[in-house]
Amino acid sequence: MQTLTPAPTGLHGTLAVPGDKSISHRALMLGAISEGDTTIHHFLTGEDCLSTLGALQALGVKIERQGETIVVHGQGWTGLTASAHPLEMGNSGTTTRLLMGLLAGRPFQTTLLGDQSLHRRPMRRVAEPLRHFGGEVRLSPQGTLPATISGQSLHAATYQMTVASAQVKSALILAALQAPAPSTIIEQLPTRNHTELMLQQFGANLTTAADQRTITVHPAPHLHGQTVQVPGDLSSAAFFLVAAAIVPGSNVTLTQVNLNPTRTGILRVLQAMGASVTITPRISQGEPLGDITVSHGPLRPIKIGAAEIPALIDELPLVALLAACADGTSEIRGAAELRVKETDRIATVASELRKLGVTIEELPDGMIITGRPNWALQTSTLTSHGDHRIGMMLAVAALKAHQSLTLAEPEAIAISYPTFFRDLAQLKGDER
Ligand code: S3P
Repeated sequence: MQTLTPAPTGLHGTLAVPGDKSISHRALMLGAISEGDTTIHHFLTGEDCLSTLGALQALGVKIERQGETIVVHGQGWTGLTASAHPLEMGNSGTTTRLLMGLLAGRPFQTTLLGDQSLHRRPMRRVAEPLRHFGGEVRLSPQGTLPATISGQSLHAATYQMTVASAQVKSALILAALQAPAPSTIIEQLPTRNHTELMLQQFGANLTTAADQRTITVHPAPHLHGQTVQVPGDLSSAAFFLVAAAIVPGSNVTLTQVNLNPTRTGILRVLQAMGASVTITPRISQGEPLGDITVSHGPLRPIKIGAAEIPALIDELPLVALLAACADGTSEIRGAAELRVKETDRIATVASELRKLGVTIEELPDGMIITGRPNWALQTSTLTSHGDHRIGMMLAVAALKAHQSLTLAEPEAIAISYPTFFRDLAQLKGDER
């Protein structure tokens, strides 16, 4: 149990959040299949990325870690060898799905296992399209883990995706790199493109058409180790940006945050709801970076539809919280993907925000939220349901309460943000 205390005078100050989760996973995986050393700076040491690190080590890749600096001693595709035991994915959907694509073309068999939450999540969305490239992934009768990947000689394909998922897209790209001829992957909607950008840095020939949805992947028998400076994770910064927007008296700056436009939907939502947001771009070698300042002010309700969802998929629990503080009724639609995240995030957001007295109607693919300026607490015990992002969203909500609350299952937060409570205490000024 974790005690959540209010922030009666708001949040103040400047913070550099930990490295981006999506980019940390990809830097490890691309380092593992490249020739030569890859050095990763500001690596996220959350449990999910450590699942990727452990899995790659079990596949025979030499990786050294000193704090947030990682060196992957890549020996090319053939440096990956069969693991003596099933690989443990923990809670990480990204590790699981990207590895399915990567291992689909390796000449050995691998079994993937995960925690209870991961064993409930859909994996046919990867196994089925991989078949078009000659991949063979066996799943449980429910289409879930355990997964057994029997490595094959893959072939090129043209595949039209049926879900908007960067994890599925990335798995297909990692498989297509191993085919002998170019492949085309067409997305349903554009999703985060970290895999594409990083592969270009590692020497792959991969292009995205002007529609931002059609990706051509050329064979890449040789990739080359690189240095990757991981930017701050906007999905982690978002907790404090939203906190500053909803807690009176706040003004916070988050530095060196990734501003890849496929991820910045939360900034567009904050601006559309009337929050004061200032973005100062920073010079970077890789993906766009900047400092973001948000201060408190009154919020308007908002309507969000399917096209906007991918760029803020992980921030939707926070959008619900913003809506809960806005003056009026907000709607989130076209977000059925929320139902298959670490928890069913439509159900868990609704059940927890209702405890604060907020009116929420669940839709099959979203929610309708009627905001109120002050909470009407129904109970003082909230739960993360074992979902890191739900836990952090509730810790932010609690800043606005007029009494201390308790959070059950707070340990889930270490999945993506092990130092969350320390960083929150810094912005609250708790140590002063
Ligand atoms: C991720 C993609 C998204 C996101 C997840 C990380 C990635 O998942 O929710 O936290 O790193 O590719 P989906 O691909 O399932 O939308």
